[in-house]
Amino acid sequence: MAEDAILGYLATHAEIPDSEQFATQHSLHHNEVVNVIKSLHGFRYIDAHDIKRETWVLTDEGKKYAADGSPEVQLFLALPPQGSISKDELQKKLDPSVFKIGCSQAGKNKWVEMGKQVSRKVQHVEDKVKDLLIRVQSGQAIGKDDINSLKARKLIVAQTWKGYSVRKGPNYAPKRKKVATDLTRENLQRGDWKELEFKEYNFNAKGPPAESGHLHPLLKVKQQLKNIFLQLGFEEMPTNNFVESSFWNFDALFQPQQHPARDSHDTFFLEAPSTTRELPEDYVELVKHVHESGGYGSRGYMYDWKREEANKNLLRTHTTAVSTRMLYALAKQPFSPKRYFSIDRVFRNESVDRTHLAEFHQIEGLVCDRGLTLGDLIGVLNDFFSRLGMSKLRFKPAYNPYTEPSMEIFSYHEGLKKWVEIGNSGMFRPEMLLPMGFPEDVRVIAWGLSLERPTMILYGIDNIRDLFGHKVDLSLIKRNPICRLGIN
Ligand code: PHE
Repeated sequence: MAEDAILGYLATHAEIPDSEQFATQHSLHHNEVVNVIKSLHGFRYIDAHDIKRETWVLTDEGKKYAADGSPEVQLFLALPPQGSISKDELQKKLDPSVFKIGCSQAGKNKWVEMGKQVSRKVQHVEDKVKDLLIRVQSGQAIGKDDINSLKARKLIVAQTWKGYSVRKGPNYAPKRKKVATDLTRENLQRGDWKELEFKEYNFNAKGPPAESGHLHPLLKVKQQLKNIFLQLGFEEMPTNNFVESSFWNFDALFQPQQHPARDSHDTFFLEAPSTTRELPEDYVELVKHVHESGGYGSRGYMYDWKREEANKNLLRTHTTAVSTRMLYALAKQPFSPKRYFSIDRVFRNESVDRTHLAEFHQIEGLVCDRGLTLGDLIGVLNDFFSRLGMSKLRFKPAYNPYTEPSMEIFSYHEGLKKWVEIGNSGMFRPEMLLPMGFPEDVRVIAWGLSLERPTMILYGIDNIRDLFGHKVDLSLIKRNPICRLGIN
């Protein structure tokens, strides 16, 4: 339709000066005309030039007044022709914004007497504002002063109208030639390929985007951290069990059974299977004993240790449960020093907010050797974190049931210009290590941190729900850059 009209018109006219006028004259939609112009221009059937016009359109407020009348006139009409009405009563009759604006404009126009009582000062008023708005709405021109006053009241805004002027192009023809896009078997059999005009290849066209899998930011950061641990000579621990018994998650770590973390408000316990099938019985006895009455220079917690509590299955609350199993296995063998790490998922019964989810990932490292000290821990932490690009560290004394001493780790964040907490660490207690059977001089230094925290900092994400879980925008995963830790 539009294409025939444009090409046909140009057969007898030199120019279409204005695409919109053309559209109106031919009862076409301007949008359609514009699309056809763009396409014909692309094939050089026509030459199109942009034209722009400033026009005025009504704002939402302007549209309301064009329909209902200006607030000043609405207010005027709400007043009794004779006598007066109290301001409160008048206010009740009108919309709050109409009342407010109406008072000020009608006052300015000297239409009304304002006081505790309000009354008319003139007999009749004309709604000039409404008339002007209706004229703008229907595309009629209005004076400069009127434009300025409507603009000042935010009843109209400027809008740039875009259209085209059009002339014949170098490939002009009154009808577009159908070009073939494919050479078919029929073309060859009939021999009509000799007459056919073929569409040219467009070497600038983009091909369909290549679809492929994408790594989630957490996986990228995890891989980098793995590399760092491997460079430092750490072995990865097997973390492929989300379900753990309370025994390995808490008891073996010398975490007392009445500790608040063992409450169902903090930990997810399993309904089925609700208890573990087996635990190493002789070791369980030693753990029970150290909780109840200590040993190895400790007084223990002096309470009645319950096997049923230790049997309860849960979703592991920290990867330290994995470290504990590994240390127990290590203690069974003739002693040799070890460095272990793990990075995997843990679960806590937390209320979800911008920085907390009920499941997240922990990074954990430990070093086990004879005669290690707190100095070794600080040294290893400096070594590890400087490879993540965090070389300014500070430590603050902390408490964990299974480590003594314990330290929270802080790093100076250059972007935020403050110290942020990045992890937790400590030396495992003798009450944990000695029942496992380690020689007395063996010490284990360990630390843990979340994978989400550094990932959010690295990728500039401030709401954890944008990073992980069902609300994540897939394009975040498709487009996020590679991760190079420690390199700015
Ligand atoms: N398990 C601790 C936590 O959940 C981290 C930690 C690991 C602390 C090892 C000390 C030693 O935060």
